[in-house]
Amino acid sequence: MSKVRAAVFASGTGSNFEAIMKEKIPGCDITFLVCDQPDAKVIDKANYFDVPTFVFSAKDYPSKQAYERVLVDKLQEAGVTWIFLAGYMRMIGKMLLDVYEERIINIHPSLLPAFPGKDAIGQAVEAGVGKTGVTVHYVDSGMDSGPIIAQEELEMFPDETIETLKKRIQKVEHRLYPRVIKDLMLKD
Ligand code: GRF
Repeated sequence: MSKVRAAVFASGTGSNFEAIMKEKIPGCDITFLVCDQPDAKVIDKANYFDVPTFVFSAKDYPSKQAYERVLVDKLQEAGVTWIFLAGYMRMIGKMLLDVYEERIINIHPSLLPAFPGKDAIGQAVEAGVGKTGVTVHYVDSGMDSGPIIAQEELEMFPDETIETLKKRIQKVEHRLYPRVIKDLMLKD
């Protein structure tokens, strides 16, 4: 049986990338990592797992359309049919969305539609809500606004800080994201 080829896009520490790699998802080959931050820790993690990387700086291109054109060419050349965003801090543009319609997913550290965008964990602590959580969703042209695939709730403690919540959120993320990917791959 031929494996689905997927790319992970990430810009940061890469703990979700690591969780996906450790899961060794049946029928899914992580063909490469796309990273827009040349110093990101996730690149070391990709090297550790022997996953090829494509690292770029958006400022080297005249527009989002221009660097996404290069990404689309790379992805298609490698036969990639799914994209998993894991802390990729850029909006996905029309170029990628048109080619990978309903094949780009993202993980976000809140119960969307609550607290989209940056610092979702800080936003939830600041708002003092009773619960928050993690969402995996399809990516569309909006900010964390695509159809929701799966969510997991977390109760907020009265003395919750960004640090304590982040730890608990990450634990959920590392379990939820590989599980959702596994399910999607089974249906593909
Ligand atoms: C995660 O919290 C994820 O929900 C968000 O970005 C963060 C990435 O963390 N989209 P890491 O680099 O996987 O540790």
